[in-house]
Amino acid sequence: MTALSNTKANISSKNTSDVKIDTNDRPSWLSDNVVSTLQKQHETIRASNEEIDDEAGFFLYDLDALTEHLSTLMQQDVIKLWFAVKANPLSRIITTLAEQGFNFDVASQGELSQVRKQNIAAERILNTGPAKSKAQMAAFLQQGVRTFVVESLLQLQWLNESAEFLDCQPQVLLRVQLQWPEGEKNPLGGNEVTPFGLSCEQWQTITVDDYPSLNINGLHIFQWGNMLSNEKMFQLWSQMVDPLVQLAQNLGMSLEVLDLGGGLGVDYLQTGNSLSWQQIVQDLTVIKSKAGVKELWLELGRYAVAEAGYYVTSVVDKKQNFTQQQLVLAGGINHLLRPAITEQAFPANLLRNSSASLIEFDLHGPLCTSLDKLGRLPLPGDVNVGDQIIFGLSGAYGFTESMPFFLCHQIAAEYVLQHGVIEQVRVAEPASWYLR
Ligand SMILES: Cc1ncc(COP(=O)(O)O)c(C=O)c1O
Repeated sequence: MTALSNTKANISSKNTSDVKIDTNDRPSWLSDNVVSTLQKQHETIRASNEEIDDEAGFFLYDLDALTEHLSTLMQQDVIKLWFAVKANPLSRIITTLAEQGFNFDVASQGELSQVRKQNIAAERILNTGPAKSKAQMAAFLQQGVRTFVVESLLQLQWLNESAEFLDCQPQVLLRVQLQWPEGEKNPLGGNEVTPFGLSCEQWQTITVDDYPSLNINGLHIFQWGNMLSNEKMFQLWSQMVDPLVQLAQNLGMSLEVLDLGGGLGVDYLQTGNSLSWQQIVQDLTVIKSKAGVKELWLELGRYAVAEAGYYVTSVVDKKQNFTQQQLVLAGGINHLLRPAITEQAFPANLLRNSSASLIEFDLHGPLCTSLDKLGRLPLPGDVNVGDQIIFGLSGAYGFTESMPFFLCHQIAAEYVLQHGVIEQVRVAEPASWYLR
């Protein structure tokens, strides 16, 4: 494991140009438990004289913190919760969610196999995603999956044919895409048409009775991402209800289930905004009753797991270039791609103590592209080669949403922290592991 030194550094002011670090305070995303455990681990390795600088970067998932968070989410009887496996398909993450009573939303055969490998019953699995082929849906049915979010007319027809052939009747939710005439009311902020689901006009061309092998009893809608305002979220959900109820009536289907997808946000940019879960439960109680459904579902990705995850890498080079202070890191978008595609950095901290003033650094990774940048973030000015940088909120869309192969660097390692013990789940494989 890479070297970690004693750290209690934190940013104590929003003015990043000349502020002192309060070493007794950490940002809310960085847990004391994680830092102290990593420090102890580092000391043990140092004492044993082992080679310590053997990893370019690693992820650490705090399963104790995850368990506590998930247990809070489960303490309600309004919402049925599913985990969007794409956010983090690591086995230990899946089993932690399963133990807390989550169900699983899978979007590929790979995700389905991974969930089944953790001994999760097929009844707890839901299949979403716009790229479902006839063969994939037949294979999912054969593997026992009985709940599908259908996203096209062809998917509906194919699923009906396969279900008839296999003599079963899966539950189906039709995925709906809505548009609003006024741009600001549109959850995507514009009227962009995506491949996720179909418009009400398209769905209204079907006759439910033409699909006797399907139990079409729900609607699914999910068109917004990383929302951080309860008010906005409630406003958006409220606007969905009338058109969806109307669609169900027009189709003559009984609307028993409403699935509102994911989209609950985490505060990557440290704006101080965050969602109140208690408020979400209250709001969804209202939505559920307005829609008149028996079940209300959410498939959570980042809101379930982001906060439990960290990414740690080390500084390889430091320089001033024109007016900009630059740090080149051992790992970048090869391990953590999301900042490059969203322009939202993961929050970062230095892992050792420092009372130096904060300076804004451009954090670059090791790839030969200017895209390889984890953000422009304030760090103590004395940060130096060999120092460890820890990034927070990295438990979702981290390891599997990266571009690990470019330039043949090492794959990131993965660790879990449970009951105070760190365990390695994945070693940092060299490029020879995948090169042919
Ligand atoms: C169908 C579906 N449900 C849920 C999610 C999870 O989204 P989030 O991470 O915003 O909760 C996704 C993410 O892409 C998705 O495609």
